[in-house]
Amino acid sequence: KTIPATLIPGDGIGPEIMDAVTEILDAVGAPFAWDKQLAGMAAVDATGNPLPPQTIDSIRRTGLALKSPLTTPVGGGFKSINVTLRQEFGLYANLRPTRTFVPGGRFDKIDLVLVRENLEGYYAAMESYIPVGDDPHGIATGAGYNSRAECNRIVRFAFEYAVKHGRKKVTLVHKANILKLLTGLFLEEGRKVAKEYEGRVECNERIVDACAMQLVIDPWQYDVIVTTNLFGDILSDLTAGLVGGLGMAPGANIGEKAAVFEAVHGSAPDIAGKDLANPLALLLAANMMLEHVGRDDLSTRIESGIRSVITKPELLTRDLGGKSGTREFTAALKQHLV
Ligand code: NAI
Ligand code: MG
Repeated sequence: KTIPATLIPGDGIGPEIMDAVTEILDAVGAPFAWDKQLAGMAAVDATGNPLPPQTIDSIRRTGLALKSPLTTPVGGGFKSINVTLRQEFGLYANLRPTRTFVPGGRFDKIDLVLVRENLEGYYAAMESYIPVGDDPHGIATGAGYNSRAECNRIVRFAFEYAVKHGRKKVTLVHKANILKLLTGLFLEEGRKVAKEYEGRVECNERIVDACAMQLVIDPWQYDVIVTTNLFGDILSDLTAGLVGGLGMAPGANIGEKAAVFEAVHGSAPDIAGKDLANPLALLLAANMMLEHVGRDDLSTRIESGIRSVITKPELLTRDLGGKSGTREFTAALKQHLV
């Protein structure tokens, strides 16, 4: 049975890594029936609109998308397409797993998941600038908001994820000592939800700055982390850095009616079109998409292939210290699939 899904090849290295990923998905017989759609600069060039209505309609229909990075046009008043997609489809949970794939380093055997609230907090961008007489005294202000319902929903998502994936502990990350209301509400709802899972999933709490330090000193103490938007944005780049950087970091934006899977990195214009890009982050995102539709059997096969090819450093792309181009690496990975 095939599963309709939207495919967005994206900009810069996007089409190259998407080709690599669909080649691997085809090799294991992934069930997706792709509806290819434009977004980003490719869409601006073709239609004048970075997020054409056809693309939105497609995602509304399929409820499932694999998206390559998009170049956000600078100037011209375009709002970030990623932020627009999150809001349009209510993609409230941003899921970022961090796992060690290249063994033996300083951060061997890391396996944690960060769940970031994706719609509220300081990303509401309610900002203003108040000029005070001559400019040296001008003031910039910014406000954020968190709703009780959303705090509850995101923490519940993290606990449900833990139950479903056999994880043992959820850490609520906050700054309720200073932002007593804004993140205090998150902590309050978090504790409420945690009570419902008592005996099944352990819960603890960390203040965000201390959490950042501990992620570097002892990341192994973490299992599932759940936090508000801005803290999650920053901490998830930190955790990507623990395991080899952007080339290895997948992400999923999940809502009640749609889910969009992507690499955490951008369109890498500096290496675009040169057959240099590492397709693994997008491939790991495609693996999350397979798991989302219940095909863990296929994601396991792909993951075993990745773990096997990664033991031969010369076969990897240059960002991981190897010598292969995107296509050569993809061919090598294909041969390591069982
Ligand atoms: P970037 O992530 O595209 O690149 C940062 C550095 O990492 C570059 O040196 C690049 O060559 C390298 N890199 C990134 N992905 C790689 C891969 N798969 N393999 C090997 N090397 C890789 O970030 P940058 O340069 O800040 O942004 C470029 C464009 O991407 C901008 O227009 C930005 O708005 C957009 N962007 C889009 C995102 C998305 O669609 N989800 C996320 C982040 C940025
Ligand atoms: Mg970010």
